[in-house]
Amino acid sequence: MTSVLTSPNRVAERVATRRHYLMCRPEYFAVEYVINPWMHPDVPVDRDLAIRQWESLRATYLRLGHRVDLLDPVPGLPDMVYTANGATVVGGTVLGARFRHAERAGEAAAHRAWFTAAGFSRVVEPRFVNEGEGDLLVVGDVVLAGTGFRTDPRAHDEAAAVLGRTLVPLELVDPRYYHLDTAVAVLDDTTIAWLPEAFTPASQQVLRSRFPDAVVASPDDAAVLGLNAVGDGRHVVLPAQAPALAAAIADRGFVPVPVDVSELLKGGGGPKCATLEVRT
Ligand code: ARG
Repeated sequence: MTSVLTSPNRVAERVATRRHYLMCRPEYFAVEYVINPWMHPDVPVDRDLAIRQWESLRATYLRLGHRVDLLDPVPGLPDMVYTANGATVVGGTVLGARFRHAERAGEAAAHRAWFTAAGFSRVVEPRFVNEGEGDLLVVGDVVLAGTGFRTDPRAHDEAAAVLGRTLVPLELVDPRYYHLDTAVAVLDDTTIAWLPEAFTPASQQVLRSRFPDAVVASPDDAAVLGLNAVGDGRHVVLPAQAPALAAAIADRGFVPVPVDVSELLKGGGGPKCATLEVRT
């Protein structure tokens, strides 16, 4: 609240809405293979620390008043903590994921089974590769749809048809920002933060014209996965390693909530990757 009152810019009071998230405890988390430039199997991962950091992320959501459901971790699926990649849920419709890499393929069925058991009646197994909210970001009425590294461009039409939303295709160019949620943070229904350099010039143009007031992140913010953030309309949960981005967000009247996710970063993910939003 103080950030709103002391901000030099006159900004509207930001209002949080209660969210429903799906998370998966990093019980079997490890960096055992390389499918993105962040992953180095020779760099040790402290799994106990990963679990403590994940517990505190979960506690943060609960403290903010959100609902958190849990997906059971499966041995042999070390990336399962990144639940954002397992589905995209809009208006109670669940578009399942299809992973690009064989190492993660098994996660898709675990997600579909969870949603079916939870009573979701429309759970769709997709034909084309899509890595869930890693590349499909709901912003108000539209879905920003990344491609270039993981999600197949043909999945965009499929997602639009299943979810009944307009998709905005965007092409990523930097392998460090292989998922859209590493280059765009959705702060609320009309506001994003983003790293222009992660996109082709044409996609930069699309985002500039759609979001003229977007927060532009610096390469340093993005390089600690600062954009891998979760917004509820008021609070923005983001990596503690991105203080400049937190300040820029606070300047717009949002309340940054920094969390330390150093261990998840070693797999190439942050708070958003570990958080799938369930929109009923
Ligand atoms: N190691 C995982 C992968 O490369 C990290 C996924 C991060 N998730 C995300 N939503 N960006 O697939």
